[in-house]
Amino acid sequence: MAIRPVLRMGDARLLQCAGLVGSFGSDELHKLLVDMRDTMQALEGVGLAAPQLGVGLRVVIFGVQKSSRYPDAETVPETVLINPVITPLDDQTEQAWEGCLSLPGLRGLVPRFQNIRYQGYDENGTPIDRTVSGFHARVVQHECDHLDGMLYPARIQDITQFGYTEELFSESEA
Ligand code: NI
Repeated sequence: MAIRPVLRMGDARLLQCAGLVGSFGSDELHKLLVDMRDTMQALEGVGLAAPQLGVGLRVVIFGVQKSSRYPDAETVPETVLINPVITPLDDQTEQAWEGCLSLPGLRGLVPRFQNIRYQGYDENGTPIDRTVSGFHARVVQHECDHLDGMLYPARIQDITQFGYTEELFSESEA
């Protein structure tokens, strides 16, 4: 059990494509997930991908009960998602502000598919198959992007809508 340092943008490991998990229920996988949970909770994140800890495996965790980082966000069930596959259900996209533990202090306005199906496995190899929308869909897309070496700034369409949280929201919503 350990809180581990989260790699920050600029570290080349965040740009690599992660590999498939080949076996479930191993001690190694279990330890990785414990560290990911500890780290995400300590930093009050809503999600974390294994590559952010320097581990090149297709493993993400996410979940939102009530977050100080996203006070108005809907809740998302605590989930371990391994070897995920995302299928957009239509062409509908929406823009919303995102942050990332690999870019501390920053926010950007990012387009995401509004309605998706995602499939994968939990830590025991049990299949997961969900159809979700809105914030839940956004979190999954953000985390799974990390598995393909993609950070959210690469998706920003209007780069003026990217900056330090304290400056962007200094007047209205902090
Ligand atoms: Ni992130």
